Amino acid sequence: MMTFDIVRPHPRWLEPYRDMCRVSWGQLHDDYILHDPNDFDRWKGRIFADYRNREAGVGLPPGIVPSATLWLIEADPDGERDECLGVLNLRLHLTEELRRYGGNVGIAVRPDRRGRGIATRTFIRLPELFRIYGIKDEILLTCYADNAPSARAIQKIPGILIEEDVVERNGKPTRILRARWPILR
Ligand SMILES: CC(C)(COP(=O)(O)OP(=O)(O)OC[C@H]1O[C@@H](n2cnc3c(N)ncnc32)[C@H](O)[C@@H]1OP(=O)(O)O)[C@@H](O)C(=O)NCCC(=O)NCCS
Repeated sequence: MMTFDIVRPHPRWLEPYRDMCRVSWGQLHDDYILHDPNDFDRWKGRIFADYRNREAGVGLPPGIVPSATLWLIEADPDGERDECLGVLNLRLHLTEELRRYGGNVGIAVRPDRRGRGIATRTFIRLPELFRIYGIKDEILLTCYADNAPSARAIQKIPGILIEEDVVERNGKPTRILRARWPILR
């Protein structure tokens, strides 16, 4: 089984992260969680400051709430090259819009590492991560109802409450799942 840590982004994993972006770019319905691998020279010098600002809410466009980005890192047993298996984004507050669609958790797993339980094992750690980041909202995940891997990964969370809804996305009525995972405090 692949073991990995959920870590704060750090320069030591910049190359593995770049590789994650290279293999995943254009494969997600929304690339916001990643960086364009073709623009590496533009973002390599400012990515960590950008992450800090995004978390502190500095310079965010209207309607975009502060968020923390974490990397899923598998340590290379030989110490040669760790691998970035995925990226997790935690929105620190919910808005009305995010309550409808978006939720407070975003995740992307490397296409060549999917189906190995990485998302499932990351979701299990969400209560702990929400405590660390002081997020008071319930855990709220959403996905398109026809996105089978996401829907399946969400449905596997023990005790999750799922509702279906139709919301407008890109001007079209779209079936979505909205999943709440109350945190017991
Ligand atoms: C959704 C995503 C994060 C799942 O990551 P993952 O690490 O592959 O998920 P897991 O391995 O934990 O799999 C969870 C379940 O989904 C199932 N699954 C994986 N790929 C699947 C596929 N192509 N079709 C149907 N089910 C699939 C798995 O079989 C597993 O269920 P099982 O254990 O009962 O077999 C990943 O596919 C991804 O990055 N997708 C693109 C971005 C995205 O959609 N993000 C989610 C928005 S909520």
